[in-house]
Amino acid sequence: MSKYVNEIEKRRTFAIISHPDAGKTTLTEKFLLYGGAIAMAGAVKGKKAARHAVSDWMEIEKQRGISVTSSVMQFHYEGYCINILDTPGHQDFSEDTYRTLMAADSAVMVIDAAKGVEPQTRKLFKVCLLRDIPIFTFINKMDREARNPYDLLDEIEYELGIKTYPMNWPIGCGKEFKGVYDRNKKEIIAFRANDEMANGQRQVAAIEADLSDPNLAELIGEEHRQTLVDDVELLDGAGYEFDLEAVRHGRLSPVFFGSALTNFGVEPFLEDFLHMTTPPLPRKSDSGEIDPFGDDFSAFVFKIQANMNKAHRDRVAFMRICSGRFEKGMEVLHVQGDKRMKLSQPQQLMAQEREIVDEAYAGDIIGVFDPGIFSIGDTISMPGKKFRFEGIPTFAPEHFALVRQVDTMKRKQFIKGTSQIAQEGAIQIFQELGGGMEEVIVGVVGVLQFEVLEYRLKNEYNVDIHMDMLPYEHIRWIENEGLDPKTLNLTSDTKRIQDLKGNYLLIFANSWSINWALEHNEGLQLAEFGR
Ligand code: G4P
Repeated sequence: MSKYVNEIEKRRTFAIISHPDAGKTTLTEKFLLYGGAIAMAGAVKGKKAARHAVSDWMEIEKQRGISVTSSVMQFHYEGYCINILDTPGHQDFSEDTYRTLMAADSAVMVIDAAKGVEPQTRKLFKVCLLRDIPIFTFINKMDREARNPYDLLDEIEYELGIKTYPMNWPIGCGKEFKGVYDRNKKEIIAFRANDEMANGQRQVAAIEADLSDPNLAELIGEEHRQTLVDDVELLDGAGYEFDLEAVRHGRLSPVFFGSALTNFGVEPFLEDFLHMTTPPLPRKSDSGEIDPFGDDFSAFVFKIQANMNKAHRDRVAFMRICSGRFEKGMEVLHVQGDKRMKLSQPQQLMAQEREIVDEAYAGDIIGVFDPGIFSIGDTISMPGKKFRFEGIPTFAPEHFALVRQVDTMKRKQFIKGTSQIAQEGAIQIFQELGGGMEEVIVGVVGVLQFEVLEYRLKNEYNVDIHMDMLPYEHIRWIENEGLDPKTLNLTSDTKRIQDLKGNYLLIFANSWSINWALEHNEGLQLAEFGR
C-alpha cells in the first residue's frame, strides 16, 4: 500500500453534467459554499461573467459571454478532498466536454424537474455509460412546478437505460412544495423557502417528523400526508432495491429531489454522494490496471487548452493524476515522446483561483505548461516505468465542413494550423480518399468549433479560409482490418474518407444510409467511437 493512502483515499473526483439552465452552476456554488471555498452565493455566477479573466484566451468567449473550455475546481468538505470537473453548459459544446468525463470517477447529473431528460444530458450520459462510472441524479427546482416524480424516473430509466433508486421522495412541488421524505432515515425534511437559505446559509432548522407523527397532517396537509403514505408504500414494495455495488458500476442511479437555489436538499445530497461514490479508481493500461494507491506517479492528458496567453502561443495540458503523488519539480517521463522532463508551472484551480501547486495526488487534476509536445491521451509516468494508459476514444463529430485556404500561397500555414488545432482535439480533420491537405473535411461535435477554427486560423496563423458546410450527420469508423473502402457498395450520398492516422471512415447524410451500407456489405463493421 502506498505511503499516500490517506491522501488518496479522501479524493473524490466527479464531473457535473446537465442541460443548460438546469442549475449546474447554482448547485456547484452551494457545494463550494459548504466547503468554505467561497464565502458568498453568487460568486460562481459572478464568475460566469468574470471568467474571462481566467480563460481570456479567445475573443469568441467574450463576444458570446460563454466559456468555451471546461474548468476544474477543488475544495475540502468533512475530511474529503473534492475535485469538481465542470462541463461547459452551453448548447455548442466540443469534444472537451466528453473528454472531461474520461477524467472523472463519477458523474452528477442535474435535471430540471419541469423538463426532465434533455438532449444535452442524453449525449453526455452516453459517455458515462461507456465507462461504467457511478451516476448520481439531482432533480432540481422542486420549488417550482414540476413534472410527476414517477414520470421523471420513468423517463430517466427509459431514455438513458439506467435503473433509478429515489433516495428521497418529494412532497408536492412549486408553491405546494412541502419538503422531502428521506427513505433511509424514514424522516421528513420540511421545506422552508427563505432568502437566507438562498443566500447560502446551510439548511439548519429543518423540521423532522416520520410517517407516524400525529402532527404530520398539520405539517404538510392531510392530502399530502395520504399521498406520501401511498407513495412510500409503493416505492418500498415495487421499486428497485438499493444496491451499492450496482450504484458503483453505473447500473443504478441514486436520485435526489431538491432545490439548489433555495439550498434545499443540497447538503444531504453531497453527504450521501460522498459516502456512496468511490475514491480514485484503477485505470487500464497496456501493462494491466494501474492502482491509484501505487507509490509511483502517473497521469494522462485529457485536455489541451491553447493560447491562454496570445503573445506566447502557449498551451496548457490538463492531466488527471492516476496514481501516486506529484511533486513540483519532479522528473517524469512523457511516454509518447519518450522524453524525461520536468513539468513546468504546475497549476491547480482552487475554487476560483489558479494556483501553482507543490504537490497533488491520484484523483487530482493539474494543468501544466505545454510547449507543444503533448497530445490528448498521452501518458506521463516515472522514468523507467514505461506504459501507456488506454487511449481516450475519439468522439463522433456531428457537423462537417469542407475547408480550404483562400490564398493558395498560405498552404504551409494552413496545414500547420489545422493540424495543430486538430492535435489539441478542438476539431477532427479528414481527407477524401486520395485527396491532398489543401482541402480538408473538418468534423466537429459542436458547431461553435467552426467559428473557433476560423478565428484561430486568422489570428494565430494568418490564414483566411473558405468553409462549405456539408450535409453529413453521421460518421462511422470502419473496423474491418485491411478492407478497401472503394470496394464497398454505398448510397451515392455516402462519402469515403480517411483520418490523420490513416483509418478509413464513412460519413453519411442520414441513419437510413448507415443501415443501407450494413445491409449491402456483408461483414462490414462500423464503430461510433474511433481509436
Ligand atoms: P446551469 O449552470 O445549469 O446553466 O444553470 P444555473 O445554475 O445558471 O441556473 C439556471 C437558472 O435556474 C438560474 O436563473 C438559477 O437561479 C435558476 N435555478 C437554479 N436552481 C434553481 C432552483 O432550485 N429553483 C429555482 N426556482 N430556480 C433555480 P436565472 O434567472 O437564469 O439566473 P439568475 O439571473 O437568477 O442568476
